[in-house]
Amino acid sequence: MDMPTPALNATGSMMELLLTRRSVVAKNMIEPGPDAAVLDDILTAGIRVPDHGKLGPWRIQVLHKAGQKALGDVFAEIFRRRNPEAEERLVEIERARPQRAPVLLAVTDRIDPHHPKIPEIEQVLSGGAVCQNILVAAHAAGFVAQWLTEWPSFDPEVKAALGHGPETKIIGFIYIGTAGEAPKERTRPDLGTVVSEWTGPTV
Ligand SMILES: Cc1cc2nc3c(=O)[nH]c(=O)nc-3n(C[C@H](O)[C@H](O)[C@H](O)COP(=O)(O)O)c2cc1C
Repeated sequence: MDMPTPALNATGSMMELLLTRRSVVAKNMIEPGPDAAVLDDILTAGIRVPDHGKLGPWRIQVLHKAGQKALGDVFAEIFRRRNPEAEERLVEIERARPQRAPVLLAVTDRIDPHHPKIPEIEQVLSGGAVCQNILVAAHAAGFVAQWLTEWPSFDPEVKAALGHGPETKIIGFIYIGTAGEAPKERTRPDLGTVVSEWTGPTV
């Protein structure tokens, strides 16, 4: 029997991963999450992204259970103050929001808006690549992940609680854990609707 070479096998599994990766919604995540060594690998792979000018224009905060609980209290307090008539059940949904998965990452930008060479959008996009790399790396490590923004990402008070100024963008909260249930496949665009061949100017 022909055995694949390790290199081919590795390439095959990587392509398989990329062709099948799917987010699992955070509320369907259960323990365990990655341990410290695996999380280190996920983060190391996460920041191995195209980064024009080597600016490192992103930051990542790791929230384990203590941090998640503290952030949940922040969400709940903000929500209650702004919605004094809201049912307690809704306040508790906000408290639980950042506590849905074993590990939570807050990925923020750290851009130089006046950089002489690297436009702001390239710096922000590099942060998007960090998020996507983290999703892929988490899946490669046998876990599942979801990239969410939701209202807290756009909230100045949440940013302040995380230690950021209003100019900072929260590129995403990334939830990582184990799938409590397998996700259904998500419809993807037909390749032909988004990809075309360009052979030269038409005018
Ligand atoms: C920047 C960004 C922000 C997102 N924010 C949300 C969100 O707030 N709420 C939500 O339901 N999905 C959000 N999503 C989509 C989820 O990540 C969703 O699970 C994902 O797109 C499913 O696709 P996948 O299975 O290919 O990962 C966001 C996606 C991106 C790229």
